[in-house]
Amino acid sequence: MKTVSLTKSKTAKLLAVGFFASIALLAFSGDLLPRPVEAQTNETDDPAVWGKRFPMHYADYQKTVDQARTRYGGSEAVQVAPKESDPRSVVAQSRLDEDPRLKIMWDGYAFAVDFREERGHAFMLDDQTYTDRQKVAKQPGTCINCHASVYLAYKKLGDGDIFKGFDAINKMPYADARKEVSHPVSCIDCHDASTMKLRVSRPAFINGMKAYKASQGIADYDVNRDASRAEMRSYVCGQCHVEYYFKGESKTLTYPWSRGLKVDNMLAYYDEVGHKDWTHKQSGANVLKAQHPEFEMFSQGPHARAGVSCVDCHMPKKTGPAKITDHHVRSPLLMVEQSCNTCHKVDAAEMKDRAETIQTRTFNARNLAMDALLDLINQIKAAKDSGRSDAELAEARDFQRKAQFYLDFVEAENSMGFHAPQESARILGESMNFSRFGLMSLSGVKPVKPFAPVKK
Ligand code: HEC
Ligand code: HEC
Ligand code: HEC
Ligand code: HEC
Ligand code: HEC
Repeated sequence: MKTVSLTKSKTAKLLAVGFFASIALLAFSGDLLPRPVEAQTNETDDPAVWGKRFPMHYADYQKTVDQARTRYGGSEAVQVAPKESDPRSVVAQSRLDEDPRLKIMWDGYAFAVDFREERGHAFMLDDQTYTDRQKVAKQPGTCINCHASVYLAYKKLGDGDIFKGFDAINKMPYADARKEVSHPVSCIDCHDASTMKLRVSRPAFINGMKAYKASQGIADYDVNRDASRAEMRSYVCGQCHVEYYFKGESKTLTYPWSRGLKVDNMLAYYDEVGHKDWTHKQSGANVLKAQHPEFEMFSQGPHARAGVSCVDCHMPKKTGPAKITDHHVRSPLLMVEQSCNTCHKVDAAEMKDRAETIQTRTFNARNLAMDALLDLINQIKAAKDSGRSDAELAEARDFQRKAQFYLDFVEAENSMGFHAPQESARILGESMNFSRFGLMSLSGVKPVKPFAPVKK
């Protein structure tokens, strides 16, 4: 494995201190100027090579091995004895142990077997390679798109055409695709090697944005041609921090955005194409798993509305020998002064408290929605066990599909409501209402005339 190890990180920190002193001169003598990383034609996915030109950026990038917990996020190491099939001795803590209701919500799907708190970018390739989800399901090469530096693999497999290479990787079994890559997300996945400009390297995002913009009346949108620099500061993250599914036999990585970016639009899309992720083991409902929709949720929030980007909070500028973009991507609540205080001139502790207030309210509503969903699952199961027919259960099962996708959309979104507080609360309210309708459908009691929401 060429991923950064914990020991290397400590070394990196020591090195970083040394570097800050010793490269100060270099930095001011033009280290930050956009010059080719190597001889222009010779691109590399090895961040250490880029690190020779940009040692400060590389040192910060290596720090994503950090293990620092916040109330609802961050990372925490759990020490385990190294297993033969999993050379990691330290893994992230299990979310299933934290909240066993998740196992019921995902019963029959690989997530009910292993699901952990996410951690820093340095771990992405190992965590995917060794998750127990690999053991209970045959995972496709498609998984690799968001867990590795894959730009050069696309080019190699597609004879220079990243879209062709993308098609080739999606069709491979995971183990074969895994052999084509050797680093977690690297410099080349976000930067053009010769100009250092931000660029989107993921065909799934390029296609997804084209479909989304078309739904907004903008034809033939090309993210690398048409996006502003400010937009790019969120789009490079949106390459991976999004809801997705594997489309058809070719397992093409697809972002379901052709009707819009809201949860309602995505459910409508999945209903239209008739997609289900699996059939729920206890209730028999055809259900969906939402996955890390940070980009979509954030897009509905007050910060996106105000033109703030992911990078403003997660990679804020830092001062040192030179003012640079902090490549130690992590929770902003571990660096409130650097992150929030650039815009909010309020005491850092107060800013942290504002964020945690939003998160605790979301967490409590999430728990109510989860309880409601479990009641529905239990009741559908009981009705099924007592011999009620599929036709009689169809409506309740469809309400489970809805309630579960809405709840999971907030559950899987990693800011615990912060990225879009009111939208998160709305979604959880809808989820509880779907569970209520499901229960009423089973009992045969008709709900009062449903409220038709005002469009906004
Ligand atoms: C206004 C600041 C802000 C912006 C902009 C922002 N975030 Fe966040 N993000 C946060 C906060 C605060 C948290 C909660 C962190 C925690 O609980 O420790 C968070 C959490 C996260 C997490 C989970 C981090 C963890 O440690 O568990 C991810 C992943 C994430 N954001 C990605 C994104 C992406 C992608 C974007 C852009 C589409 C974005 N964020 C935009 C402030 C921001
Ligand atoms: C669209 C991009 C994308 C694809 C495709 C993708 N992932 Fe991820 N994955 C992420 C992001 C972003 C995170 C971190 C946020 C989170 O955990 O919610 C993550 C986290 C993880 C984690 C760590 C947390 C956990 O869930 O235990 C594992 C393991 C994982 N993915 C495995 C997989 C597997 C297996 C596949 C293929 C079935 C896959 N990923 C496909 C983007 C992706
Ligand atoms: C190539 C796909 C990819 C890209 C691009 C990407 N991420 Fe991630 N990110 C991931 C995956 C996968 C994980 C989870 C890794 C794990 O758990 O092993 C993750 C984890 C994180 C975390 C959690 C860190 C922690 O300590 O818990 C944050 C915060 C985050 N990403 C923010 C961002 C931001 C901001 C950007 C854009 C500047 C970005 N990511 C770009 C795939 C990506
Ligand atoms: C997940 C995406 C991502 C990855 C991976 C990444 N960068 Fe960046 N990088 C950014 C963003 C975002 C900026 C800010 C650009 C802007 O505002 O226009 C940036 C800016 C820079 C700059 C310009 C100076 C500055 O500090 O703003 C340099 C140099 C740089 N990165 C080097 C690197 C190197 C070297 C690596 C690999 C070790 C790397 N980057 C990996 C996203 C990334
Ligand atoms: C790049 C500037 C910028 C950064 C960085 C930033 N914010 Fe904001 N924030 C804004 C703007 C602008 C608004 C909207 C103000 C308005 O128009 O009323 C806002 C609004 C808010 C709100 C009110 C949300 C609501 O529901 O109306 C909270 C809470 C908040 N920010 C917290 C944070 C926290 C916590 C951080 C750090 C993790 C942060 N912000 C980082 C610019 C920023």
